[in-house]
Amino acid sequence: MKKRYCIVGTGGRSEMYIKAILNTFADRAELVGFCDSNRKRMDYYNSVVLKKQCGNHPDVATYPAQDFDRMISECKPDTVIVTSMDRTHHKYTCRAMELGCDVISEKPMTIDAEKCQQIIDTKKRTGKHLTVTFNYRYSPRNTKIKEVIKSGIVGDITSVHFEWMLDTCHGADYFRRWHRDKNNSGGLMVHKSTHHFDLVNWWIDSEPVTVFAMGDLKFYGKANAEKRGVTEFYSRSRGSEIAAKDPFALHVKPDDENLMGLYYNAESEDGYYRDQSVFGDCISIEDNMGVMVRYKNNTVMTYSLCAHCPWEGYRVVFNGTKGRLEFNVVERSFCSAEGEDFNHFGMSEMKEDRSKLVPEIIFQPHWGKPQVIEYTTDTLAGHGGGDDRLLRHLFVGVDDDPLGLAADYVDGAKSILTGIGANISMKTGEPVKVQELIHW
Ligand SMILES: NC(=O)c1ccc[n+]([C@@H]2O[C@H](COP(=O)([O-])OP(=O)(O)OC[C@H]3O[C@@H](n4cnc5c(N)ncnc54)[C@H](O)[C@@H]3O)[C@@H](O)[C@H]2O)c1
Repeated sequence: MKKRYCIVGTGGRSEMYIKAILNTFADRAELVGFCDSNRKRMDYYNSVVLKKQCGNHPDVATYPAQDFDRMISECKPDTVIVTSMDRTHHKYTCRAMELGCDVISEKPMTIDAEKCQQIIDTKKRTGKHLTVTFNYRYSPRNTKIKEVIKSGIVGDITSVHFEWMLDTCHGADYFRRWHRDKNNSGGLMVHKSTHHFDLVNWWIDSEPVTVFAMGDLKFYGKANAEKRGVTEFYSRSRGSEIAAKDPFALHVKPDDENLMGLYYNAESEDGYYRDQSVFGDCISIEDNMGVMVRYKNNTVMTYSLCAHCPWEGYRVVFNGTKGRLEFNVVERSFCSAEGEDFNHFGMSEMKEDRSKLVPEIIFQPHWGKPQVIEYTTDTLAGHGGGDDRLLRHLFVGVDDDPLGLAADYVDGAKSILTGIGANISMKTGEPVKVQELIHW
């Protein structure tokens, strides 16, 4: 029998799940309900995506956010997929489990310790299944790192140095919309770094114990732009002459059906402006952060995230008792200032130039020469090839998972606790004991 799915939060990310259910996994999955606070976004999926990209599929029933319970009782889903704004994840995750459903939650599982506790308690009480979708684990190169460390050639990992670079296209996008308010996203330490902290927990098979962090808004925001001599400001790109000259502005073309349908045509419902100026007021998240983490197995990590780099990618170094593993990933070599279309912002694998400079994975044993480690991949589309593999795991299932790719609520919680601890540490200036944030 086909499994029944409802989706709450029908914004950009939900499209991947909608198409997976209605196209790739239609033999085993059925999409029975949409729920969102914005009716027009749900209508866009029904009238455009389902009709043009999902074989003229009939409309899926739609429910406003306040009718979530009614959706569950009428649509009777086995599983609810949560792809709403981060600060609402706990609410739908807990309620769905209370009402007898399993849950697939997008990262971050939630944004603060209180909500995380609520999810843990509800999960334990209801016994329902809660999966958190860490697509980066599934990217072949990230999986390769897990394999290499697990093989033991690096020895025990004594320290990790992890640097993530978000570029002026992708990084800037977090400063254009709801993510820029820390109450919505937990800041980049939670919203974005949950991916990275999960990777480290998984790679080194441990969990955070102590976190110390510093971070500031140093580049985006009006005050920073003023310090650099900027005198002309705008609140959003649409209709702004000033924005026309700003390479950081998002310009949605009238023939961009996706951005028009999901955002511009839907904004009358809730005033969600997709194209706010990154140099506006009221940005409460950081764009430069440094974190130190001590793990249960005594590994120490230094981590940094910068959201206005000229190229996008990451570098991770693992120092071990038998040698050193270096990992250099280029996701985009540069951003053009001609940002005339959405692909300018969208993540692609534009690796030319920079990726030729350094091999991706290098292992060097003590007393030995460096070796390049190869990995195989069929595609690098969709988060380094992670999205496709993740979807197969979610909708087909996991028979054999020797590397532990599938992530549950414990992984979801442990990945955000580093960021939540970092947020507290940035506020207090003190190190934070992670185990004091949550009762398991
Ligand atoms: N794993 C990944 O790589 C990845 C990539 C992109 C997004 N995401 C995650 O997916 C989620 C959605 O992100 P997005 O980019 O689609 O954002 P989005 O803004 O495009 O969509 C968010 C949706 O949530 C809806 N929403 C807001 N408040 C709501 C409420 N109270 N009740 C119901 N719906 C509500 C909005 O109307 C909107 O349709 C986020 O949690 C994000 O972290 C994950």
